[in-house]
Amino acid sequence: PRLEEMYNTFDFESVAKNILKADAWGYFNSGANDEISMRENHNAFHRIWLRPRVMVDVANIDMTTKMLGDKTSFPLYISATALNKMAHPDGEKTLAVAAGNQGVIQMIPTLASYSIDDIVGARIHPDQPQWFQLYVHKDRSIAKRMVEHAESKGIKGLFITVDTATLGRREKDMRQKYVHEGPAELQGEELNREGGVATASSGIIDMTLNWKDIAWFKSITKLPIVLKGIQTWEDAVLAARYGCAGIVISNHGGRQLDFAPSPIEILPEVMDALKREGLENSLEVYIDGGIRRGSDIFKAIALGAKGVGIGRPTLYAMAGYGFKGVEKLLQLYQDELEMCMRLMGARTIADIKPEMVDTRNLKDH
Ligand code: FNR
Repeated sequence: PRLEEMYNTFDFESVAKNILKADAWGYFNSGANDEISMRENHNAFHRIWLRPRVMVDVANIDMTTKMLGDKTSFPLYISATALNKMAHPDGEKTLAVAAGNQGVIQMIPTLASYSIDDIVGARIHPDQPQWFQLYVHKDRSIAKRMVEHAESKGIKGLFITVDTATLGRREKDMRQKYVHEGPAELQGEELNREGGVATASSGIIDMTLNWKDIAWFKSITKLPIVLKGIQTWEDAVLAARYGCAGIVISNHGGRQLDFAPSPIEILPEVMDALKREGLENSLEVYIDGGIRRGSDIFKAIALGAKGVGIGRPTLYAMAGYGFKGVEKLLQLYQDELEMCMRLMGARTIADIKPEMVDTRNLKDH
């Protein structure tokens, strides 16, 4: 189908399923074990209803906001997904271009197909913000070098992935042998090629990572530190106490611990706990996982998120249509959010309030 025939984010997924090779589809689409968390991530949004306010002048809608201090055209960013060459020959560079054209922030993965220099070099605006996602390497001198290098390249935020002490069991992926080139930044490292894409490059991750390490990261970088993969209110409070600039409530798109809760379901208790402890202004809260509609963004903002991340949809869009596909995908999210705000009587992001959503069914299912 032509790009004009993509009416929602799910359309890109159908196209990708048809055109991707089995190993790429298996890697992108898979979740851990029975994929319960993966499906629940989006399904949980179905239990939140909206409370639209009418008779508000909604002729002009302003969706702009700031994330870690940088302006974006609406509160959504492209999250890190490894090895994007499996989706498109230009890989992560494709996302840099689309993000720049749409005024959206891109998070660059540690395990990118292209080097961070290439992906930063693909920006279309000199001041286009990009973030860096860090898998903490067992060899801390390598981790340190990666962070320092990212900072020297003008990266605006360091997202440390904390939900991957060991790799989740993604069986669709495990059935494949890994035949592709590895991540650019890990050249020379031994790859395990027997058990799928994810297994091949996850051996570098440091299982000893713990709260005391935050002080070390703060000693080696001035970048704001955001923990990606917080899954309880207790850890959200700890992240704030340890001086992190933000958290991403995430279960890694349901790819790590099956039966981890969907991020939108625990967002309210995270916000309550931060308020209770007087920490609500000390860090920014993001969520990712299953964001597929503009109304999903609206609900997350209403419940206290500063913004939301997307993973798989960008892969599916670039697999089918390259950077133009990703631009269209981002435009669909933005247009859907705009319509939702209009019909909800919210003119600005700050107008989106908790009382605009009804969460009575969220826990009760
Ligand atoms: C990911 N994700 C991920 N996260 C991370 O911190 N480092 C990584 O290298 C990757 N790689 C990766 C590969 C693929 C194929 C997927 C689908 C996901 C997780 C990603 O950043 C994000 O948390 C989820 O993808 C969000 O869920 P949705 O939008 O895919 O439902």
